[in-house]
Amino acid sequence: MSVPEIAPFHAIELSALAHRLAAEGQDIIHMEFGQPSTGAPTKAIERAQHVLATDPMGYWESQALRERIARHYHDTYGVSIRPQQVILTCGASPALVLALLSSLTPGMRVALARPGYVAYRNTLKSLHMVPVEIPCGEKECFQLTARAIEALVSAPDALIIASPANPTGTILPEQEFRAIVRVCRERNIRIISDEIYHGLSYGEPAHSALEYEPEALIVNSFSKYFSMAPWRLGWLIIPEDMIDKARARMGNLFLTPSSLSQHAGLVAFDCSEELEGHLVTYRKNRDLLLQALPQMGLNNIAPPDGAFYVYADIGHLTDNSLIFCEELLRDTGVATAPGIDFDPVNGHKFMRFSFAVSTDRIEEAIARMIPWFSAKTDK
Ligand SMILES: Cc1ncc(COP(=O)(O)O)c(C=O)c1O
Repeated sequence: MSVPEIAPFHAIELSALAHRLAAEGQDIIHMEFGQPSTGAPTKAIERAQHVLATDPMGYWESQALRERIARHYHDTYGVSIRPQQVILTCGASPALVLALLSSLTPGMRVALARPGYVAYRNTLKSLHMVPVEIPCGEKECFQLTARAIEALVSAPDALIIASPANPTGTILPEQEFRAIVRVCRERNIRIISDEIYHGLSYGEPAHSALEYEPEALIVNSFSKYFSMAPWRLGWLIIPEDMIDKARARMGNLFLTPSSLSQHAGLVAFDCSEELEGHLVTYRKNRDLLLQALPQMGLNNIAPPDGAFYVYADIGHLTDNSLIFCEELLRDTGVATAPGIDFDPVNGHKFMRFSFAVSTDRIEEAIARMIPWFSAKTDK
């Protein structure tokens, strides 16, 4: 068995270029990563400072945080899980690795939406599993449908659901979610639900897969709603019969997440006033961007129901989204992500804007992009 080839994350390359241009004096607006610019909640930082000053710390898994997460699922989704089912991880990325390693074996087939988060495909390949990409177009708001899963001739072993999704921010309608779960039950397909953008919705809140399928594996983290991406803290919820397997893998592969982050993460659950304030900013940014896109000649988009992304069709302007995003960056200082990161087939004619920045930076980005896109359209 050879080491699988996986594609690079092109947004990282663009970001590196953005930082080089910034070092040369250009004013850069970072809309390439889905990364809140707000920092951890104030009270979480205060708690971390206190712990740093008073506690030498060590390898540790916070039982209080596991209990708090279990309570969160009860309060938010009305589902009952035991704290033992919660495995604290160093973010959603290792939680996904643990989910896959605890429930599947090499060679197994895992279905996922295309476009989708770049790391799903590449993590699966790295673990010698086989991604089965389901093309999802604008008509389906770039989301999976029960019909598409039913139509797969050979049932995959598992399915990754992402709602809200990256790169589109779209949310699975409740009926469709239920229908997907029904098909997965009938076809014996394990559900892995990435709920990292929960809490960031602009209409109806997103549903957890646990509401419909208690056997689902749930991946989540403090990186998005809690605005704590660099603290590298997340969690996996795992069915009872897989707890031992997942714990053994967590301990051996990653030991524990950062102790400091776990202290801060527990407090972050009590910072909803501050965190809901970020959502107000994202909503404003989303509205500004949605208003501006037609002026940029970008009319083919699915308005995001959640997260902080807009995935736009730029097929009338380019057939190379990487070169296009690079040109936009060099000319205007606005860094974005090329669609090829999310869709190796059609992504050359899409790009993703992240609006997780401050509103004045979104306004500035729009002011720079409208004339740039107009000039491109007029060519
Ligand atoms: C859909 C999705 N899942 C997982 C991750 C990884 O998140 P984390 O920072 O918690 O590892 C990201 C990061 O952008 C993401 O967009």
